[in-house]
This record gives sequence, structure tokens and C-alpha cells, in this order.
Amino acid sequence: MTEGTGRRTVLKVVAAIPLAATFGLLVSPLMRYLRPTIKPLDILGPSDQPKPLEDVSFTKGDFPEAWTCLPFMFSQTYKEYNPEGMEVRKIPGFVVRLPNDEIVAYSRICPHLGCIFNFVKDPEECLKGYNFKPEGPVFACPCHLSVYDIAQGGKVVSGPAPRPPRQFTVKTEGEKISIVSLEAGGIA
Ligand code: FES
Repeated sequence: MTEGTGRRTVLKVVAAIPLAATFGLLVSPLMRYLRPTIKPLDILGPSDQPKPLEDVSFTKGDFPEAWTCLPFMFSQTYKEYNPEGMEVRKIPGFVVRLPNDEIVAYSRICPHLGCIFNFVKDPEECLKGYNFKPEGPVFACPCHLSVYDIAQGGKVVSGPAPRPPRQFTVKTEGEKISIVSLEAGGIA
């Protein structure tokens, strides 16, 4: 390399520095817009999506027969601008054994306006309390009488709810049944 070529290379590198700095100044706000809770230069950092704090566990023996329904509380962490860097919210749920022995779990927060719904085993009781007679056990909300068919994936069968309640992922390992995560989306 001649002395002239070396000098040109140095000058090119020096000239590129403001360009790279400008690019960085543009990219950083863009990334913070897309992922507001990441640190300014932590573009490849871990996801800021809500995460479970811990699994909730049951055993198969807790569900001796079809339509056994147990309440539980699931702790979900959300990124926040506070000293801990997160907030923990408790989400009430129901875990149910279906007649085909599948174990399913749902958030009890009604997708209509966020009330906490109930498990109603008896169709007659549902008719009296919620103005709808289902085929079998359902989830039913006391606020505006939405009814969800548990055997059909939480399908709305009566009332104003726009969609089924959010589902939890359930993992089975031997006798142990764990509720490990909540379907993505808002809390309700
Ligand atoms: S909040 Fe449940 S039906 Fe309105």
C-alpha cells in the first residue's frame, strides 16, 4: 500500500463516522418505537412480552371425574418503568377435565368487559341465572350474561362477548399437570 492509498483509506473511514452516527441516531428511536421498553442500544435484548412468573401445578388425581373444575391464580410479569423493571399481575383461571379426559385451562377474565366469570355445571342453573340453557357445563358471566361452551373451545353461545376467553397452555408430564403460559394478547 502506497502512502497516498493509506491516507485515502484513513480519510474514507473518518468521513464514514458521521454517516454511521447519523444512521445509529435514526435506528435507535425507531427500535424504541417498535419495542418501547428495551434499553436504547439493547436492540437484540430479550423480548419484552409478558412472561409467566412460575408454573401452576396440579396432579391427575386432582381431577377424579369429567367436569372437575378447579380455580387457580396465575402470575404474569409485565415490563414496567419502575425500580423492579416489571409488574406482576394475578390472572384468575379455571382448569377443567373434559369428558374426553383432556385438561383445559382458561383465564376467568371475561373478554366482554373484564368481569370474572363462573363455572356453571348444571344447565338448569344456567337457565335460571344466565337466561340460557346449554347442553352441558359452561362458563357464565354474571355481568352481562355471556355464556361460553367449554367443550367447544370456549365458544360464545350466548351474550355479548366478542370471542372465547384466553386459554392457558397446559403441559402434562406423567402425573403432573402444569399451567405454563397464557395466550398472547391483553389481560381480558
Ligand atoms: S363482562 Fe362478562 S358479559 Fe360483560
